[in-house]
Order: sequence, then C-alpha cells, then structure tokens
Amino acid sequence: MEYILMNESHITPIAQLEKQCFSDPWSEASIGSELRNPLSLWVVAMDEDRLAGYVGSQTVLGWADMMNLAVAPEYRRQGIGEALVDQLVFRLQKNDVSCLTLEVRQSNAPAISLYTKKGFVQVGRRPNYYHNPKEDALILRKELTV
Ligand SMILES: CC(C)(COP(=O)(O)OP(=O)(O)OC[C@H]1O[C@@H](n2cnc3c(N)ncnc32)[C@H](O)[C@@H]1OP(=O)(O)O)[C@@H](O)C(=O)NCCC(=O)NCCS
Repeated sequence: MEYILMNESHITPIAQLEKQCFSDPWSEASIGSELRNPLSLWVVAMDEDRLAGYVGSQTVLGWADMMNLAVAPEYRRQGIGEALVDQLVFRLQKNDVSCLTLEVRQSNAPAISLYTKKGFVQVGRRPNYYHNPKEDALILRKELTV
C-alpha cells in the first residue's frame, strides 16, 4: 500500500467512495477544489492503481480539521484507516500544526474506536449536526505537539 498526496487522478474514485460511504457525499467539484486550496491536505492509500482509502483536512492558524476519512469496504480491517490517520498526523506535524479536530456521528462505533485508539478525546458535541438521518456529532481532538 502506498500513501501519497491526492492528485487529479484520485478525484473521481474518491467521489465514488464518498457516495458508497456517506449520505451527504462530497461532489467531484468540491473534492477537486481542495487540490487548489492551500489550506487543504489530503492523503490517499493506493493499492497499485486502486484507491483503497483517503483522508482530507484543512488547517487554519495551526488548527487542523479532519473533514473526511474512508476506506473502501473490501480494504477495511487491515490497518489502512489507522495508517491514513498516522500519515495525516505526520504531515501536519511537519507543518507545525498543533491540534487536529474532527466530527463523527455518535453511532459510528468503528470510527470512534479508531479515533480513540489513535489518541483522540471527546471535547464536545454538536446536537443534530448530521442529516439523513439526523444525529448528534461528537467533537474529538488530538494534540499534535510532542
Ligand atoms: C472507520 C473506517 C475508516 C475504519 O477503517 P479501517 O481501515 O477498517 O480501520 P483499521 O483497520 O485501521 O482499524 C483500526 C481500528 O479501528 C477500529 N475499528 C475499525 N473497524 C471497526 C469495526 N468494524 N468495529 C469496531 N472497531 C473498528 C478498531 O479499534 C481498529 O483497531 P483494531 O484492529 O486493533 O481492533 C472504515 O470503517 C470506514 O471507511 N467507514 C465508513 C466511513 C466512515 O465512517 N468514516 C469516518 C467518518 S467520521
């Protein structure tokens, strides 16, 4: 598995995986605009020419927000989600980012388990943040300073 920065060739497969994983998927246009956003950092996991997963972030004033994380169903439970978080954290630390936050559906046990394993802690809750179905978001944070 190779972990590299997102480029133009990854936009369509990322959009397809978004549709598979989320009820409010990002469009190809939104994903493509991230490539031109200097605040954005996206990492993809590639199995030769197949997209296995991706993670996307934006950083403002040293605080990063993880906006998307997904692993294709056939690649799950192989450590790829964890490796994507590690890759993102490593790259953000090199950019002097001090903390990483994210929102997650309160019912998303696999993702919450992954984030807890990677050292994220709950710092808040956004009531009814998600739609289709309506659900609270938990706000998780990880300090990146060593
Ligand atoms: C959440 C997701 C990214 C995990 O990816 P993954 O590659 O399967 O995760 P990993 O194999 O790296 O697992 C790492 C840890 O995550 C947790 N985990 C992953 N899948 C899990 C599951 N189905 N049930 C419980 N815990 C799970 C475990 O703690 C696991 O550690 P362990 O193997 O020591 O038990 C993946 O299930 C996914 O893409 N889900 C749909 C999209 C999504 O919900 N994204 C997160 C939005 S906030």
